[in-house]
Amino acid sequence: MRRTHTCGALRADHEGEAVILQGWVHRRRDLGGLIFLDLRDRDGLTQVVVEPDAGDTVFATASSLRNEWVVEIEGVVRLRPEGQRSDRLATGDVEVVAGRVAVLSEARTPPFPLDDAAGKAGAVNEDLRLRHRYLDLRRPDAMAPLLVRHAVIREIWRYLDEHGFVQVETPLLTRSTPEGARDYVVPARGQPGHVYALPQSPQLFKQMLMMGGVDRYFQVARCFRDEDLRADRQPDFTQLDIEMAFVEQDDVLALNEGLMAAVVQGATGRGVATPFARLGYREALDRFGSDKPDVRFGLELSDLDELFAATEVRAFRSALEGGGAVRGLRVPAELATVLSRKAIEGLEGIAKRHGAAGLAWLRRSEDGFSGPLAKALSPDEQARLLAATPDVGDLWLLVADRWATACTALGAVRLHLRDALDVPFDADALAFLWVVDFPLLEQDPDTGAWTYMHHPFTRPRDEDLAWLESDPGRVRAWAYDLVLNGSEIGGGSLRIHREDVQHRMFAALGFTAEEARRRFGFFLDALGYGTPPHGGIAWGLDRLVMLLAGARSLRDVIAFPKNQRGFDPLTDAPAAAEPGQLEELGLTVLRPGASAADPTPGEGPNASGVRRVSGADPTPGEGPNASGVRRVSFAGEAGEGDT
Ligand code: AMO
Repeated sequence: MRRTHTCGALRADHEGEAVILQGWVHRRRDLGGLIFLDLRDRDGLTQVVVEPDAGDTVFATASSLRNEWVVEIEGVVRLRPEGQRSDRLATGDVEVVAGRVAVLSEARTPPFPLDDAAGKAGAVNEDLRLRHRYLDLRRPDAMAPLLVRHAVIREIWRYLDEHGFVQVETPLLTRSTPEGARDYVVPARGQPGHVYALPQSPQLFKQMLMMGGVDRYFQVARCFRDEDLRADRQPDFTQLDIEMAFVEQDDVLALNEGLMAAVVQGATGRGVATPFARLGYREALDRFGSDKPDVRFGLELSDLDELFAATEVRAFRSALEGGGAVRGLRVPAELATVLSRKAIEGLEGIAKRHGAAGLAWLRRSEDGFSGPLAKALSPDEQARLLAATPDVGDLWLLVADRWATACTALGAVRLHLRDALDVPFDADALAFLWVVDFPLLEQDPDTGAWTYMHHPFTRPRDEDLAWLESDPGRVRAWAYDLVLNGSEIGGGSLRIHREDVQHRMFAALGFTAEEARRRFGFFLDALGYGTPPHGGIAWGLDRLVMLLAGARSLRDVIAFPKNQRGFDPLTDAPAAAEPGQLEELGLTVLRPGASAADPTPGEGPNASGVRRVSGADPTPGEGPNASGVRRVSFAGEAGEGDT
């Protein structure tokens, strides 16, 4: 027997048709002599009525049904009586009068209710939902983001195919691709002490595809990054990865704008205006305190360097003398009235968590300013600040620090105020924008070392190349980030396509020639055989789908996600390695008291002991060298960090 329709298909014009439906029992109601069943599948719900004239056997089977049993119903479509129709259901005009009911499989009682109301209220513990994700997915609200995701990927394929792109898969068992996180490594059984790295991105392969003449490449690519988890990060996630040969920055941005508009239109029916706004990196930080600004509301920062240029306020003066900045955020009186002294102290905590030494504040009063800083202002500063403060009750929040710290600390306060003060903005807007004109490198304020802002393959502007060795901070990159409503949903760049420039870049990053050759020799070789100018981007596909589907977390748009601790409650991964496995791989666990024959699973689900356990240093530094290999000891070969 096959179903003739899905549970969301029947309408009034099917009246009188004989149908077969299959699905889950969503709900059963016994009303005296009648049994009503709501039958459910991915497509919807259909009401089934079992009447006494269906016969004793059918009636008895129907009475025995429980929620989540899988059943088959054969019956006839009938219009529901006037007054009993439902607008809520697409099938709400009809019901199926059952002539036959067959049980396809029985079900145990689910560990949590499978209705959306329960899911929405967050009433069900997330780990419990993830452990039974196959049940969770039966809720339409849980299924919906997967359908949006499917539509997004379908539109991507359609559009890119039409624009001459070729889909290519790149390897998962490979070498490290530095994107700023630690690698997940896979020990190679045949070569004790050797590991594959799972790709943090397909970056080097897509560049080599350009060298191979593929010209226009894309891939819906799985990437793996061992980094601190947040709501918008997963250890394995998906990128839309794109690379194009013989292009300049404008070509890549225009292609992506057209693609994004087509994807959003095709997947959600919503229009997106192109081209997207472009903001320079400096301007983004200066105005919004973020390189992924949410521009749906104001509360922009002010540059107060000049106002405080001759200041006697000690913290401000020392910041400015040290080349830093003073930035201010003016909260208009109508929003600021609710901010008590205590609440402002709370804001200072946020600024401090983002690196600022403190947060000063001033409130405009009838005759000047109040607040701890008011008395320290010179008459000139007071007069100039008053001129920039239209209303009594306006509140200034001020941070003096290194430029980036002053901006980002106030940027974090700005975002906090958006939510805390219910700042009005259009929550349905899709505010896409590009952040462009990034510096190529940034300096670690503590060590003075230079690191890449995107990755080591990003192309410097030709006219800035001369400064790469003498003044690295001055070199601008051909790099761009794609931002949607304050989330970074993509990032990319033009790439270095000349071997000599790539060598200079590695040197600027502090790699010795030997180190560069050891880690990237294959790639440096490839560059030397005739490389077209090329560039591309990767979208964070999960993040985009999350925003388009209105989901709360990345976990909601991934079929089988990890929880906030990077653990999969469904399969219990990561799991302790089998003793035989460790031996076969030539691995020994360094946890004191444990041996390969007794891996000691450890206290928590994450404590598998294999990947995370180290002798001395459980957190080798972030960055390109943090391969994680050091945390594992290999029988037969002493690694550099073995203890
Ligand atoms: P990048 O590292 O910026 O660039 O990554 C591209 C986009 O991927 C998303 N993303 C993540 N999403 C979920 N979980 C994570 N852990 C995670 N990390 C990153 C973000 C980000 O913007 N190879 C370059 C791209 C290029 O230069 O073409 C790259 O990977 O949305």
